[in-house]
Amino acid sequence: MTNKSYTFVVLAAGHGKRMNSSLPKVLHKIGNFSMLEHVIDNARQMNPEKIVIVVDLPLTQRLKCFEGIKLITQESTLGTGDAVKIAMRNLKELSDIVVVQYGDTPLIKSSTITKMISCLGESNALVCLGFKTNNKGYGRLIIENDSLREIIEAQNGRNNDEEFLANAGIMVAREKNLRELVEKIECNNQAYEYYLTDIVAIAVKSNLNVGYVIADEEEATGINNRNDLATAEFYFQEEKRKFFTNSGVTLVAPETVFFSLDTQIGMDSIIYPYVFFGPGVKIGSGARVGPFAKCENTTIGNGVTLGNFVETKASDIGINTKIKHLSYIGNTQVGQGSNIGAGTVICNYDGKKKHKTNIGSNCFVGANSSLIAPLNVHDYSLIAAGSVVVKDVPKGSLAIARERQITKKIK
Ligand code: UD1
Ligand code: MG
Repeated sequence: MTNKSYTFVVLAAGHGKRMNSSLPKVLHKIGNFSMLEHVIDNARQMNPEKIVIVVDLPLTQRLKCFEGIKLITQESTLGTGDAVKIAMRNLKELSDIVVVQYGDTPLIKSSTITKMISCLGESNALVCLGFKTNNKGYGRLIIENDSLREIIEAQNGRNNDEEFLANAGIMVAREKNLRELVEKIECNNQAYEYYLTDIVAIAVKSNLNVGYVIADEEEATGINNRNDLATAEFYFQEEKRKFFTNSGVTLVAPETVFFSLDTQIGMDSIIYPYVFFGPGVKIGSGARVGPFAKCENTTIGNGVTLGNFVETKASDIGINTKIKHLSYIGNTQVGQGSNIGAGTVICNYDGKKKHKTNIGSNCFVGANSSLIAPLNVHDYSLIAAGSVVVKDVPKGSLAIARERQITKKIK
């Protein structure tokens, strides 16, 4: 989708005390990527004109650089209303529509934001996102005659409803309205914070309409503590499992397979139970990943077999290669159609540095071999089982690197 007329303002300041952590809240991970990376990744899918993040100083110090994104510093974290006020004061020329998103609601989909933008239409000044929940920690949307009248924060009103419509936090607004309304937010609550959510009642008082869109709790869930983090991880994994099974990947026991935000798997691949995909995994089609495998930063070609208890890291495995059992493959490039025997270990780390190994195409590495990097094993070569290989193996050669067996008669 290419719509250049909106801006994302992502609120990420504040430590998130309820996490009990030395890490700023929005840097905690779901699917091996920080909450903030989820939000930015999703925002980028919508091709906005601009993305800005409201940060505080401790977060700036730990934040890795997001290309093309402006950071705005909120000196003291006086609440979500204050954060948006500071953002708007810092942004002079802005697109017509502003999407305000909280860094701690990482699972909101771009399709939902698109829905909110269409709901804004011509008649609404603001649109909020609601979801049904029984978790009383959220602000509550008060709806009358199908329009949003007010958001009542959890601390500011009794909520006796079993299930209610909670505020997901994301807000879509016209730039002009947001700029004016946010300046009217006051600090009039026990927490001494400026609540962005007060903007709804302020808009209604100014005779402006406020719309709302409803999402599922699985998508809108916010993260304030470690339980919320675990819940969001669960929702994220469930979503990924559904995504892959719907796109032609067999997950034999979906509930036991764990993905990262950026995992890619091609059609007709089969993933057996208890597999963990860390970041940077790209698998072609017709591959098999066996039980208890773990892959990270690895490209796996079409038709590759990774068997049970195989671990790969920072590697590239060529088409139709088989690594069938109990092997560790690290910082290694393997060509096509090779066979790596059981218990092969790439010794890639010398205690200070990681070194590279290249195994060519159509090679056979015998079981229980140790390949000591840096090492090149060229095409069509064989390594005898139980070898400890320290020297390069030329094309089409057999390397035997083990003690010759001595067999003695027992008296
Ligand atoms: C907020 C909403 C609540 C909603 C919930 C959804 C307000 C007042 N309340 O509550 O209605 O149901 O989210 O998850 O907005 N932040 C800043 N600067 C600040 C304070 C916060 O940038 O001064 C950022 C935080 O990094 C966080 C987000 O804003 O990502 C929301 O703040 P948080 O304190 O988590 O608000 P909630 O209590 O969850
Ligand atoms: Mg929150």
